[in-house]
Amino acid sequence: MENFVAYNPTILHFGKGVVNDLGKTVESFGKRVLLVYGKGSVKKTGLYDEVIGRLKAVNAEVFEYSGIKSNPVIEDVDAAAEIGRKNRVDVIVAVGGGSVIDSAKIISITIPVAHSGWDFYSGKAKPATALPVIAILTLAATGTEMNPFAVQSNHKTKIKEGFHNSFLYPRHSFLDPQNTISVPRNYTAYGIADLIAHALEAYFGAGDATLSDRFIFAIINEALENGPKLLDNLNDYDLRAKIMYAANTALNGFTMYGKVNADWGVHSLGHILSLMFDIPHGASLSIAYPAWMKTLKDRMPERLELLGKNVFGTSSPDETISRFEAFFQKIDCPVHLQQTGILPDKKQEIYDLFIRNNVGGTNYQLSKEEVKQIVDYLF
Ligand code: NZQ
Ligand code: ZN
Repeated sequence: MENFVAYNPTILHFGKGVVNDLGKTVESFGKRVLLVYGKGSVKKTGLYDEVIGRLKAVNAEVFEYSGIKSNPVIEDVDAAAEIGRKNRVDVIVAVGGGSVIDSAKIISITIPVAHSGWDFYSGKAKPATALPVIAILTLAATGTEMNPFAVQSNHKTKIKEGFHNSFLYPRHSFLDPQNTISVPRNYTAYGIADLIAHALEAYFGAGDATLSDRFIFAIINEALENGPKLLDNLNDYDLRAKIMYAANTALNGFTMYGKVNADWGVHSLGHILSLMFDIPHGASLSIAYPAWMKTLKDRMPERLELLGKNVFGTSSPDETISRFEAFFQKIDCPVHLQQTGILPDKKQEIYDLFIRNNVGGTNYQLSKEEVKQIVDYLF
């Protein structure tokens, strides 16, 4: 087992009605608030009105930036940071899924400086300070609400990637499962695929940390058991709560203690697919994970055997891979690109961008032949 530092400063408020405490929490950081949200789901659900009400109740002055798109783009970050800077905001309140919260994180380090948020990704700049971010999560998937990662796309340079820094932990995150009840069936399923993928990325990292492996099996089993039930009962509070907590635990650091690293190779593939075709993040992973496992299975027979035993009761690597594939299909997530309307004539373009972006993980680097094999399996 490796040495590790357990650090997670995010204060998590989980459960029914937790957003009631938003006003006093925001007030502790100041009165000038930049409110960031997406394309409008928060207005339809009434959460926007609730948040505004709670902010007004503490006499906060609210400046807004809306329209953050799924698979967020850096232009929105820069435009929102400009509004925040001009209005000298004290705190950022992000209401939405991973795209909104990731954007708020980068906005929080961009406001204090006079350059684009992309400079943090390109390595031109390092964050020296950050405004506090308070997140109200509306979609269970990414774990961003309690981690130091933020993913952005830059269509000019054709890169979608994650940036991580300790300044990116939200100061508070409010997770009321009731706020996820309106998530449509497809995005609910993509969130389940994403959380399983996060557990698997940690599992396929290097290092001997048996307790972390067991946490990982527990998270995956929780999703395998409750995911399909939730898809049949989208309004069920308890199932929403179970999946929301599983998604949080899958990427809040907990699964990586005692390991050398997590792999993240499949995410590097998924990010390129989302960048090229705007595929929802979780759907890119339900397509990429089976393809990656099929290609790499002979490099990791023992890991696949242990995984299979603990989640499906089989020691066969092939069966384990096909059971994951079958599960994704069962919850209506795509497992081949054709299911998202992308045809094999795109193979070369995908391969070229995979190679240009140097796809692969920290533990399992990929040869060109393996990348080509993965591309074939994507279809
Ligand atoms: O824009 P609105 O109208 O809010 O609609 C969103 C969006 O269309 C909708 N939605 C969210 N909450 C809803 C809702 N609709 C109805 N009711 C609600 N309660 O759902 C759609 C998807 O939202 P999005 O935020 O894009 O989804 P998700 O949470 O899956 O976030 C995906 C982004 O996070 C990144 C992904 O790459 C992608 O860019 N990730 C971030 C990570 C991190 N920071 O740790 C790790 C992940 O691996 C991932 O890479
Ligand atoms: Zn993910």
